[in-house]
Amino acid sequence: MSLRDIDPETSRIIGLEKKRQTETISLIASENHASRAVLEAQGSIFTDKYAEGYPGQRYYGGCENVDMLEDLVIERAKELFHAEHANVQPHAGAQANMAAYFALLEHGDTAMGMKLAHGGHLTHGEKVSFSGRLYNFIRYGVDRETERIDYQEIEQLALKHRPRLIVAGASAYPRIIDFERLRSIADTVSAKLLIDIAHIAGLVAVGLHPSPVPYADVVTSTTHKTLRGPRSGFILCRKELASVIDAAVFPRMQGGPLVHAIAAKAVCFHEAMQSDFEDYQRATLRNASVLADELQRLGLRLVSGGTDNHLVLVDLTTMNVTGLQAEVALEQAGIVTNRDPIPFDKRSRRVTSGIRLGTPAATTRGLGPDEIKRLAALMVRVLSNIDDASVAREVKEEVCQISTRFPVPGVFD
Ligand SMILES: Cc1ncc(COP(=O)(O)O)c(C=O)c1O
Repeated sequence: MSLRDIDPETSRIIGLEKKRQTETISLIASENHASRAVLEAQGSIFTDKYAEGYPGQRYYGGCENVDMLEDLVIERAKELFHAEHANVQPHAGAQANMAAYFALLEHGDTAMGMKLAHGGHLTHGEKVSFSGRLYNFIRYGVDRETERIDYQEIEQLALKHRPRLIVAGASAYPRIIDFERLRSIADTVSAKLLIDIAHIAGLVAVGLHPSPVPYADVVTSTTHKTLRGPRSGFILCRKELASVIDAAVFPRMQGGPLVHAIAAKAVCFHEAMQSDFEDYQRATLRNASVLADELQRLGLRLVSGGTDNHLVLVDLTTMNVTGLQAEVALEQAGIVTNRDPIPFDKRSRRVTSGIRLGTPAATTRGLGPDEIKRLAALMVRVLSNIDDASVAREVKEEVCQISTRFPVPGVFD
């Protein structure tokens, strides 16, 4: 029996989500559309299997196929990122970071991470997250003028606070990150260096963003953003740290791994090794750059004046529109985004003065520079007429016409 016959209500809601994704365009920088093959692996029979432990050392019987699978994913992760060791069990990016902290820090230790309002992630030391509660995180940010990471500030703070760990990597930072510089700062205070590539993993995999692997002690990532896999995470590290990282993931942090997600990570890494994946990442960067140029040409201010990667951060202050208003109005017009604080934001995190836009998902669907330029113009039209429902309706119609020309890979019968 099909899902529709067994559980019509859940089936109906899934159908509504397919329609929503088809008729709108996601410019959420952290989202992507996984391939049918990724979804198939994730929905596979491995959903049923318990496999606490690691290949060859499980706490359950019947793990011969899981072992084969996990070994395959580990090898692919190591090959793709030129890493010495990979742990592919973290359920998601936050869990990857938690395990890395468990491996590298003791409760109460001093660490450093980028402020969320300047582009960092919750798990890089925010007080509302386990990271800020368990450890003494010193926060760094971007320079007020350039809005780029202030490496001098990081160095000064490191010399003052002598952290055991420096964390870098971001959720809303549109520029290249200088991993070599961070390594040398970490070395001056004998700190370990953790680089979180959750957002840029796809770019790193094909060499379109410098890799942190030669510089970092530990690299954490998600698989579902630019890497375009299942919602999940993984960790890369040097050989010397392999056993402490593995022990931190299981048994310290997690129980049984999500074997179906590991199967989907196998497919994700396989896809990332194909030559068309590099083409896709190049197209994502080109679209982001077109989006940045067009928004600026139409009068919007971008944090740091542009982008080097897959995302742009728009400062709405001069338009007299909040991030919250923009997110709601754009969604009504079929363009899905998220509000985001800008550096030194005067508004609260719930409201914000910015929106974050990214091109990974739209590029997967095949939108090119022409459609991106048009979307930029439509967004500016909505933002300039923020309270005008008729403008939102008109724009929504056009967005729907554009979006339905570009199928979502996961929408099939
Ligand atoms: C830099 C960074 N690290 C970690 C995460 C957490 O990933 P997840 O939501 O999969 O736990 C995110 C997600 O937004 C992120 O941007």
